[in-house]
Amino acid sequence: MKKNAKIAVIGSINMDLVIKAPRIPLPGETLLGRDFSMIPGGKGANQAVAASRFNAEVQMIGCLGEDAFGQSLLHLLQQEGIDTRHVAVLPDVSTGIALITVSDEGGNTILLSSGANARLTPEKVRQAEEAIEVADILLLQLEVPLEAIEEAVLLAKRHDVCVILDPAPARPLPSALLQKVDIITPNETEANILVGREPSDTVDPALMIKSLSAAGVRQTILTAGENGVYYQAADTVVHSPAYPVQAVDTTAAGDCFNAGLAVMLAEGRPLDEAIQFAQKAAALSVTRFGAQPSLPMRAEVEQMDVRG
Ligand code: RIB
Repeated sequence: MKKNAKIAVIGSINMDLVIKAPRIPLPGETLLGRDFSMIPGGKGANQAVAASRFNAEVQMIGCLGEDAFGQSLLHLLQQEGIDTRHVAVLPDVSTGIALITVSDEGGNTILLSSGANARLTPEKVRQAEEAIEVADILLLQLEVPLEAIEEAVLLAKRHDVCVILDPAPARPLPSALLQKVDIITPNETEANILVGREPSDTVDPALMIKSLSAAGVRQTILTAGENGVYYQAADTVVHSPAYPVQAVDTTAAGDCFNAGLAVMLAEGRPLDEAIQFAQKAAALSVTRFGAQPSLPMRAEVEQMDVRG
């Protein structure tokens, strides 16, 4: 097995402004919440931090604003041992902000102001080509412009680098992009949107994986929260049940899953083993509050009790 997987992450870096509340407010409702916290987040940065905690060598590519949040987030990424030479700090734009409500059941809503994340251009991605070239796996999500994602995928394919795309936040994607990605990891809502269905339509995992395969996707790993994960292996769709945990906050669970999957695959582990590690890591993360503070260390995942 390979040690020290090399992971490149292209994506968002946000400051999460989080209020805990008894439940998610209804449209038009003012609801009395509880504690307020400022927590480092952003799907890209969360993936980078998790991959680093799983012992990978991580390069982050993204954009911050030249403000107090940007400074603090950059410093935190560096403290995690992440190579930030391709994180641009841009004047005249604010750092990305996520306004998050976390309910007592552990669910959340997230409202995003992209800020500097929206300034990640294909040109900036090209400037980071060397980071992509040396990576075993490139991790992508959709909180940065699609043109930047498309450029990143082209560069990764030029250098024969495996691409894992978490299609979140959900949006339709060009089939040319879907065909180039090696693995996508949608949840049910995201999968529905990718195949042109209504976001809340009921999903039959096997049919969904077939539809995505017909759209050109090579490997779908469908994440279904507490119902576990579904993926194609040889001729069958495998169901890997979730690890039962008491949810405190699901924020960043998907990011943690993708990072775990990437690091294990980059180390040469088989897909089923990689998925189980990723599921354990994500399960641990939902037992803790916040995005990056909830992401476990590798040893914690490896020592986690088996399902039961
Ligand atoms: O996936 C969770 C993340 O989504 C949060 O940290 C928030 O910043 C949003 O980007």
